Amino acid sequence: MTVNEEKRNLDLGGHVGFDSLPDQLVSKSVAQGFCFNILCVGETGIGKSTMMNTLFNTMFENEEASHYERDVQLRPETYELRESNVNLKLTVVQTVGFGDQINKEDSFKPILDYIDTQFEKYLEEELKIKRSLFNYHDTRIHICLYFIAPNGHSLKSLDLVTMKKLDSKVNIIPIIAKSDTVNRSELDKLKIKIMSELVSNGVQIYQFPTEDEAVAEINSSMNTHLPFAVVGSVDDVKVGNKLVKARMYPWGSVQVENESHCDFVKLREMLLRVNMEDLREQTHARHYELYRRCKLEEMGFKDTGPDSQSFSLQETYEAKRKEFLVELQRKEEEMRQMFVNKVKETEAELKEKEKELHERFEQLKRMHQEEKKNLEEKRRELEEEINAFSRRKVAAETLMGQALQGCSHQRSKQSKRNALCQKKH
Ligand code: GTP
Ligand code: MG
Repeated sequence: MTVNEEKRNLDLGGHVGFDSLPDQLVSKSVAQGFCFNILCVGETGIGKSTMMNTLFNTMFENEEASHYERDVQLRPETYELRESNVNLKLTVVQTVGFGDQINKEDSFKPILDYIDTQFEKYLEEELKIKRSLFNYHDTRIHICLYFIAPNGHSLKSLDLVTMKKLDSKVNIIPIIAKSDTVNRSELDKLKIKIMSELVSNGVQIYQFPTEDEAVAEINSSMNTHLPFAVVGSVDDVKVGNKLVKARMYPWGSVQVENESHCDFVKLREMLLRVNMEDLREQTHARHYELYRRCKLEEMGFKDTGPDSQSFSLQETYEAKRKEFLVELQRKEEEMRQMFVNKVKETEAELKEKEKELHERFEQLKRMHQEEKKNLEEKRRELEEEINAFSRRKVAAETLMGQALQGCSHQRSKQSKRNALCQKKH
């Protein structure tokens, strides 16, 4: 039901006090403290840690990365900072090993995953029944400082791919690191080239907002200075009678906060002094909102049904439950069918194996019978040979017996003749 709401303007008879609401908000926010999370993406040794130390004028933990990391990792460190009466929980996340692998195809992935994980954690907290967003440590990345190497003619493909993949997830501010290593005219050319490459590849970088009149002028002017060419240093150098942050060279010094030397002051102004709240807001209202919408749609939640009628949470739940049950039944049926097929297949395989075994058995049996037959044959032949041999043996013995008898007969005849002769004499 739409109600034509007509609101009447009324004058108050006197001061009632709700004009203090903005002050109440401020004091509540100050008491609560703020979270700000910076992601530094850039090659190993490009000056990320030095830049963070220079920006916050302090010394954060600084561990040098090696150039031999197998893949890109992210190293988050959280610090409690205090300026005047404002507490800031600052998380600095730095890439480790970015740009060091031979195959850089998936270098953007760990960064993307890290950003999504922080969104996911926030969404989980939001969807809890007992949620405590009031004191939740929000780790969503508010700004990605993308460090571009100064010594090139343009962006590297790794830079373009990474920024393109990240631009719908996070506010990106590109900066040319170590800009003291390039001369002014080369730097101007590089800036123009980088911006034209970003535009022609459709990479959306963070634009300082110009809606608020108070900052419209400075922000629109700063938008034309992107990418900022910065120099970082934690060394205090005496210039005149002042100590300033600078980098010393044999031919002179590069002062970090001197606007004719580099854009460091512009970066600090834009990031910390003018647009910090806008960065936090954009993260929540644009990037997180997009993540949340995609995630909830993926989970089956919709604001409207097919007939464009608004969809209640209950209806979404019921619809999702039904969908889930149908899917479950389908999966069960599929598994049952798969099981039956598997059993049939195994049965057929077993039958085949049985047949093979049977054939093998028959073959062996045949071979065995054949061998038995051969052996029988050989035995018979041997027996015949033995019989023949025995017969020959008997015949030979008989012959020998007869021969022996003949001899002894002759000998007795001779001895008789010999006896007769002796008698005659
Ligand atoms: P990893 O964390 O190891 O990847 O390195 P990083 O990106 O944090 O670089 P880091 O700040 O440790 O600086 C590496 C080297 O570059 C140091 O020797 C710094 O002094 C030097 N350096 C940092 N910023 C600048 C700069 O603006 N100009 C020049 N010329 N050198 C710089
Ligand atoms: Mg570092």
